[in-house]
Amino acid sequence: MTNLTRLTAVLASVVPALGAAISVDGPADLPKIKSITYSGSGCIKDPAYSGNLNDPTFTYSNFAASFPGTSQTLNCEVHITLTGGTPGWQFALSNNWVKVHVVLPRGACLDYYTQVFFSQNAAKTSTSKASYNNNGGSTVDQTVTLRNNLSGNKVWSGCTGDPGILNVNFRGALSSDTKAYFEAVTENWDIEWRRC
Ligand SMILES: *[C@@H]1O[C@H](CO)[C@@H](O)[C@H](O)[C@H]1NC(C)=O
Repeated sequence: MTNLTRLTAVLASVVPALGAAISVDGPADLPKIKSITYSGSGCIKDPAYSGNLNDPTFTYSNFAASFPGTSQTLNCEVHITLTGGTPGWQFALSNNWVKVHVVLPRGACLDYYTQVFFSQNAAKTSTSKASYNNNGGSTVDQTVTLRNNLSGNKVWSGCTGDPGILNVNFRGALSSDTKAYFEAVTENWDIEWRRC
């Protein structure tokens, strides 16, 4: 064997082992989604949902706010009723990623917030606020992916079997002196699992 073929043989034996290790990061069977509903000014029309609980994508339609106007701030709250799944696991949201299109003149700002809670324990809420500022000299007109990092104060679902109702609210708020705009296009969550 040359060194290269030896290396290839070693890698071939390691990769399946890594694959197996990764799959123990969560339950073999995910909880089932019984229903998804939406509320808020940013999702008058329901977003399209795709993926699964571990990697969901919500595609908005017309989640758009402008200044001046009547909708400088908009939100959409996703409510997911869950049941079942391989017993002994619970999950939390660690990041919310929202792809937006912004048009921000110099000095304008988009503040954005994510709030997460489970209906069975609504007093326990995880929140994150962050801002996208245009401190530059000219208008920013581009698509950017915003992140709300919730890792520091995660809230955990009930254990699989009865995970409960997950509520995730995303809100964007413009502040500007002159014409500004933002539109949320898609939302994606990072989900973490632990044993319970
Ligand atoms: C996300 O938040 C956690 C906990 O506060 C922190 O340790 C981590 O550095 C943050 N990640 C980023 C990329 O800001």
